[in-house]
Amino acid sequence: MDASKLFSKSRIVPVVVIEEAAVAVDLAKTLRDAGVASIEVTLRTACALEAIELIASQVPDLIVGAGSIRRPEQISEIAARGASFAVSPGATELLIDEAISKQMPLVPGAATASEMIRLSERGYQLQKFFPAELLGGVPMLKAVSGPLPEIKFFPTGGITAALAKDYLSLACVSCIGGSWFVPAALLKARDFAGIRELAVEAVGIGEVQ
Ligand code: 3PG
Repeated sequence: MDASKLFSKSRIVPVVVIEEAAVAVDLAKTLRDAGVASIEVTLRTACALEAIELIASQVPDLIVGAGSIRRPEQISEIAARGASFAVSPGATELLIDEAISKQMPLVPGAATASEMIRLSERGYQLQKFFPAELLGGVPMLKAVSGPLPEIKFFPTGGITAALAKDYLSLACVSCIGGSWFVPAALLKARDFAGIRELAVEAVGIGEVQ
């Protein structure tokens, strides 16, 4: 299932690493109030599934998804916690088969033209492009979108406030993701005012494009 429609409201998606479930709801409300429409919680910490469940149940007006998906069984795990979409850094047939069978919208990762074409064949017209900056960033996306005009990208990895505008100006980029506006230090310090300021700036970059 293609996830394109989920990101139509806001083109900036926070990719967050939550170390303590206790901050999840306040973080989600802060991002929602800043104008963010969807959030990707990465499955890289022990409390990530709990954080997804808390956000899904307590902040229902924010679309919550799970990132860093790399095993098929994670699809059922995140569905049980209320996740609305999955994002994976790469994709395998097993992962795709499971996402399709569980009807979980997936943004599968691709880094090469062959991977992009394979995902397109499986019905995924929106693909994660990761790690965006290391793969060649904006010039690389411009180059691949010439022969692959039907594919839209959700680049993440190394994007900053300074780079965001250039990515968003590309017709092949639907939305961008990043952690730059939810810095680990601010989250650890529970500095939600500081996160809000960065998030408002990030959302603003998405709006002017
Ligand atoms: C991801 O999982 O998509 C990336 O780790 C996010 O990249 P960033 O932390 O460089 O923004």
